[in-house]
Amino acid sequence: MIEKNLERLSTETSILPPTRPVYLDHHATTPVDPRVFAAMKPWLTERFGNAASISHRYGDEARDAVEQARRQIAALVNCEPTEVIFTSGATEANNLALKGFLWQVGKECELIVNRGEHKAVLDPAERLSRDGYSVNTIEINRVGQVETDSLAEALSAHTGLVSVMFANNEVGTINPIAEIAELCSERKIRLHCDAVQAVGILDVDLQQVPIDLLSLSAHKFYGPQGVGALIVRRDRGRIPLTPLLDGGGHERHLRSGTLPVALIVGFGEACRLAQAEKSADSQRLSKLRDRLWNRLASQLSGLHRNGPPDNCLPQNLNVSVEGVDGDALMTGLTKIAVSSGSACTSADPAPSHVLRAMGLSESLTKASLRFGLGRSTTEEEIDLAIEHVTEVVQHLRS
Ligand SMILES: Cc1ncc(COP(=O)(O)O)c(C=O)c1O
Repeated sequence: MIEKNLERLSTETSILPPTRPVYLDHHATTPVDPRVFAAMKPWLTERFGNAASISHRYGDEARDAVEQARRQIAALVNCEPTEVIFTSGATEANNLALKGFLWQVGKECELIVNRGEHKAVLDPAERLSRDGYSVNTIEINRVGQVETDSLAEALSAHTGLVSVMFANNEVGTINPIAEIAELCSERKIRLHCDAVQAVGILDVDLQQVPIDLLSLSAHKFYGPQGVGALIVRRDRGRIPLTPLLDGGGHERHLRSGTLPVALIVGFGEACRLAQAEKSADSQRLSKLRDRLWNRLASQLSGLHRNGPPDNCLPQNLNVSVEGVDGDALMTGLTKIAVSSGSACTSADPAPSHVLRAMGLSESLTKASLRFGLGRSTTEEEIDLAIEHVTEVVQHLRS
């Protein structure tokens, strides 16, 4: 029924153009996998109970479904199910980690972030700083990586929390998170990691890497929008956190509010699928990504690859194009949906802070394209993208 209505909506109205551009913006969001949707559907219709209702079967069913999803999420990152705290997404998880920790431990404790982080880390850090908390922001290198040595130099006796993303959402750079986690753990400093772009495609194993707080978001790997989690590890002692919301004390008193059962079931199913498919997805996507880069670079001069060729997310390619205007480039690219360095990560159309922090000029920052490949991306689509980008760039340069 829902599918029929959507089909009718798109054919009978002019909301969507007849042929939509090839979707290559999977870092922004991914489509819900049909298998995820099938798992969610009963929880949006006949199985509508509140997981916090303890006096009847509707509640029991919903609670069982939530607990199964919690186990699926925990299995993907190899932690205990009791360490999974559901949130509305990674923005909330990051806010809970950073603000929750500093509010609890106080203003003497220093937080270290870096310039490559998503705004969902940088903005709460900035808010904390404005409120009188101690926040230090370190640089990233030319490929967008946090160097362990630079972080080691920045640590002080007051540092209590470090936040380093697993992999960058713009340029795909994978940080040396195992080294960073060891460094923090040796100094008894807590480590938060925004793993949004890595979970579901890379191996993230919390038994191997001593990360204390890990943020996830379902819609980045074929689950629904509006649900995520903060993993709060307990194996190195309780992590002090003040909740952002006061209410019914759900989620071990860390996140009050009725749990969105259907979204959580979808999140769990997305994790189950990712566990089974991430290795094959990763190999296939890195081949397609390499084809995209190699062919574009052989056909167009003045193309710069942003981020490292190795140590990069398999689904990511970020390039800057010399000699073209960024806005004209984006306007010209009508056959593909990609994002640009001029309005990449938020509703704020400022040039990418990540590319600027990597040392790119303003014009190369603006004339940059982020390709995000995904599970449904085909070789034909990549070939169409190669042809289209080449044509548009040559036209703009002529
Ligand atoms: C690295 C990173 N962190 C956080 C977020 C925000 O995630 P959510 O949409 O779940 O709030 C995103 C989404 O773009 C992201 O890429």
